[in-house]
Amino acid sequence: MNITSCFAKDLFQGKTVFITGGSSGINLGIARNFAAVGANLGIVGRAQEKLDAAAAELRALGAQVSAHSADVRDYPALEGAMQRCREELGPIHTLVCGAAGNFPLAAERISPNGFKSVIDIDLLGSFHTCRAAFEQLKETRGNIIFISAGQAFMPYAFQAHVGAAKAGIDNLMRNLALEWGRFGIRCNSIAPGPIEGTEGVRRLVPEGSVDKLKRMIPLGRFGTPDDIGQLSVFLASPLASYITGTLIVADGGQNLPGSGAWTQLVLAEMAKAKG
Ligand code: COA
Repeated sequence: MNITSCFAKDLFQGKTVFITGGSSGINLGIARNFAAVGANLGIVGRAQEKLDAAAAELRALGAQVSAHSADVRDYPALEGAMQRCREELGPIHTLVCGAAGNFPLAAERISPNGFKSVIDIDLLGSFHTCRAAFEQLKETRGNIIFISAGQAFMPYAFQAHVGAAKAGIDNLMRNLALEWGRFGIRCNSIAPGPIEGTEGVRRLVPEGSVDKLKRMIPLGRFGTPDDIGQLSVFLASPLASYITGTLIVADGGQNLPGSGAWTQLVLAEMAKAKG
């Protein structure tokens, strides 16, 4: 199943989708899915080399691409990249706040500057992105998708900084949905679970624990970048025109209350009894 079995290939024809952190991982997966339904892509990230490689891949899918490096913490640089994107592709219709930073570490070992860095990239960076895009989104009556995480609503060990940043993002999302609805701008968050092949999984899932973790997910697998890309296309499409201020969790059930230790224990006992 891919995006064009469900959505028309020209659904986003002539529309600009701007994605921070768009050169890799989940965000590049989102970009690929929008390219498949005709969108043009603006992508920003810190490393121009990575952006160039992603741009080449997206152009091969038929998209026009604007790819200029900017750190989301640097407001003037981000504004500049957005302005160039507008000149090259037209005003932004869908904005994806995807840029994020993460390193797993016990709370008592996170340095104040390390905590600040994650808050600055994730939360302040998302605000910068929305603030800089506001006039363009107002013009297109566009929409914003924030990339949140389960850490926003469940405490995860070694993720105090990320949980604080992502919870802030979800609150920002609801606030902007409230304030910007009158301009026709919709705002929603997606909280992906572990996504196959991403830096997030490489950083966060201890080596040798992949299979065990998959068994703890009710759907029994990690997600794919397409799982999140397809959901993003839906959220940005007219099918979701009355959806705003919402967090959609796409994690195979990982964060369901009860999907943790007790359930694993019971399932293991049942398997033993059968076997
Ligand atoms: N463990 C502990 N502390 C870390 C760290 C790690 N792996 N990575 C960065 N930090 C701390 C630094 O020590 C520094 O704090 P200090 O001044 O007290 O020493 C602070 O974070 C800032 O780090 P810096 O290297 O200046 O880089 P940055 O601000 O560009 O950092 C981070 C961005 C923190 C997100 C960094 O971990 C990073 O670049 N990650 C790669 C991208 C990424 O995380 N992708 C998302 C995957 S889900």
